[in-house]
Amino acid sequence: MSENIRTPQAGLKPVASGRTLSPERMARFQEMVEEYPNKRSTLMMVIRLVEEEFESVTDEAMALAAHLCEVPVAHVQGMVTFYTHFKRPFHGKHRFMVCATLMCALDGNTDAALKSIKDKLGIGAGEITADGLFSCEKVECLADCDRPPVVQKDFEHFCNMKGAPFNQYIDGLVAKEGKALSDYQGKVAAKMDTRVSTLPVHYTFPGETSEGARHFDDKDPYWKPGQGELTTAIPRPLHTPFSSPVADSGLKPQKSK
Ligand code: FES
Repeated sequence: MSENIRTPQAGLKPVASGRTLSPERMARFQEMVEEYPNKRSTLMMVIRLVEEEFESVTDEAMALAAHLCEVPVAHVQGMVTFYTHFKRPFHGKHRFMVCATLMCALDGNTDAALKSIKDKLGIGAGEITADGLFSCEKVECLADCDRPPVVQKDFEHFCNMKGAPFNQYIDGLVAKEGKALSDYQGKVAAKMDTRVSTLPVHYTFPGETSEGARHFDDKDPYWKPGQGELTTAIPRPLHTPFSSPVADSGLKPQKSK
């Protein structure tokens, strides 16, 4: 299978800056390669490695992950934008993730957690404080449904997180950052732009029809080097559960010929 994988990055420098994983992380990557059936299967874990290396999953980090795992960058972008746990450049230094799935949302529990964040930090779901220190998102089930509301702050996991305990936690966090609540309360928050900055808008897979249906063949699921067309045009604003759309840049996606 792996020998059939084609990548448009083949033979190219993976990242323009030449940046790669630290020797320690590269050794962990090699261990994964030994353990998993092929490089492509390591992608989820490799995204975690580049997230550590770059401190968030930047475009450069995604390009490096694609290179290491021998998959197109679009494949990495798909995984990174599907899973909400990966830290992206638009997130705050501290990310509040509030479960908004039904069991937490019942009885106003999700709203109670969001209210604490709004009251203390002045940000709602999909927003970030002006200094970039704190951001807030609604996320799907965090797997502790019987103890709502469930909240994660970066890699910390909290159950029954509302009211006084949550307020005290936020107070402590703000103090630890050397800030005061007055720095945030009543201030205008910024919307997070959750889009990836570069999206290939069209691929020409073997067997693609004029209607745009794509043909995936297990023997060769990826296009060969030189196939397909990429664009660096900024994509249109997207509506996501996590943010309101940002202003349209006016740039139109490039049409394929
Ligand atoms: S519904 Fe919130 S943790 Fe499952």
